[in-house]
Amino acid sequence: MTTRITHSAVETERLGERWGRAAQRGWVIGLSGDLGAGKTQLVKGLARGLGVTARVHSPTFTLVNEYPGGRLRLFHLDLYRLETRGQIIAAGLEEYLQPDGVTVIEWAERVNEELRMKNEEMRRQVRRVSIEVLNETERRITYEDSGA
Ligand SMILES: Nc1ncnc2c1ncn2[C@@H]1O[C@H](COP(=O)(O)OP(=O)(O)O)[C@@H](O)[C@H]1O
Ligand SMILES: [Mg+2]
Repeated sequence: MTTRITHSAVETERLGERWGRAAQRGWVIGLSGDLGAGKTQLVKGLARGLGVTARVHSPTFTLVNEYPGGRLRLFHLDLYRLETRGQIIAAGLEEYLQPDGVTVIEWAERVNEELRMKNEEMRRQVRRVSIEVLNETERRITYEDSGA
């Protein structure tokens, strides 16, 4: 388990950028944290680190936004608007848990069980990240890797 305190949105983005540079095909990154914690900010950095130049914003009317054009394809899921686990699975979650590229999921705690199973059965690497708001500009970002 690793903990980082970031002191600005830019710093959080830079952390994501480092992850993007290190990312390997098949990675799944699960983000947890309240609204406004900085999940999307981290995804922006991740995209940049992968070399994706498109503007990143959370998918609104679909389960996923796909960003090609980087070193690896990035799949960005945001489960905020999907209410039940059944709804999330019906929307096609499974496909993105074995990405040909990298998947990042906002509100990943809603699919904890699926992430755990993926990790155990498929031996894919999963990074679970939790972002806590400390104050206006500071965030505590804790993460842990498991799997292959
Ligand atoms: N250290 C920090 N890390 C990330 N975001 C921060 C930080 N400090 C302030 N912010 C602000 O918090 C907000 C985070 O928004 P966003 O990334 O969309 O959150 P989420 O996706 O978790 O709802 C942004 O307005 C950002 O500028
Ligand atoms: Mg968000």
